[in-house]
Amino acid sequence: MTGRKRIVSGMRPTGPLHLGNLHGALANWVKMQEQYDCFFFIADWHALTSDYEDTAFVSQYVRDMMIDWLSVGLSQDKNTLFVQSHIKEHAELFLILAMITPVPWLERNPTYKDQIVQLSNKDLSTFGFLGYPVLQAADIIMYKAHGVPVGVDQVPHIEISREIARRFNHFYGEIFPEPESLLTQTPKILGIDRRKMSKSYNNAIFISESPEDITAKVAKMVTDPQRARKSDPGNPDVCNVFEFHKIYSDGETVDQINSSCRTAQIGCVECKQIMARNLIKALEPIREKRDYYQNRPELVDNIIVEGSSKARKVAQETMEEVRSAMGI
Ligand code: TRP
Ligand code: SF4
Repeated sequence: MTGRKRIVSGMRPTGPLHLGNLHGALANWVKMQEQYDCFFFIADWHALTSDYEDTAFVSQYVRDMMIDWLSVGLSQDKNTLFVQSHIKEHAELFLILAMITPVPWLERNPTYKDQIVQLSNKDLSTFGFLGYPVLQAADIIMYKAHGVPVGVDQVPHIEISREIARRFNHFYGEIFPEPESLLTQTPKILGIDRRKMSKSYNNAIFISESPEDITAKVAKMVTDPQRARKSDPGNPDVCNVFEFHKIYSDGETVDQINSSCRTAQIGCVECKQIMARNLIKALEPIREKRDYYQNRPELVDNIIVEGSSKARKVAQETMEEVRSAMGI
């Protein structure tokens, strides 16, 4: 592991992972595990910043998320996979960073303002929600990460992390590198209604979905909106089903569909059936691994305990440095 650049990234356990997550963050992480010293964690405390009223699902979601991670090929040997709340040091560093973070930095955070409007059904006027990026900064600098693989929506948070690290170093001495965002390409695939795929939009296909449910969801997918009848030529370039074909079908099939859609030789029903079959086939190995881990909850818990203890060692060292730099 030595000599490799360290990266840190986290995901909030707010429900099962879908194909958007798989082709976005997760595929990227699976690649990165070969090149970097990776710390990937389940940000269960961060989930509480918006979902604090009903916490009954959190522990189930945490285990499910680890199962999803392992099933898509993240390795507990190549990475440090852990759960945020198992490392109490994150809370201590969060508290210390909170002391030096000016409130206006948090108030002008674009995701803060945005989420308060978007999630208007929740009361987000809490101290914890405002402090979200401070906890995130603690997560990252705890491991002295050089890079943070994130989607574009998270870039403002990484900016705040950099500013907080700089401010800490300025007061107490150079301890933390300033972490850089490593932008994840967001996948072109959309939800079945052509909006961004998201659990909260009810338009997602989940990694853990059964073949029957996948077929049913694909049948409902919105295609080229200009194509009303089978006899109308379609335009694959604007069709989400075609984007899925590009990922899950072989090159020959993609070419064939491309031309027979444009010449109205294939109907959307048939086109979707072909895609659904290929999607189901592609998810098959993931589903098998999921079943394996699902049937072995002690194994999954053990992976969480071991990964967390690897992370904790690093966190403890960092906190000793922090306390000694501050003289507390
Ligand atoms: N805020 C991130 C998200 O919603 C999750 C997260 C928490 C995170 N802590 C992090 C991401 C640290 C990267 C690094 O996606
Ligand atoms: Fe989309 Fe296929 Fe229908 Fe063409 S035939 S519009 S690619 S679903």
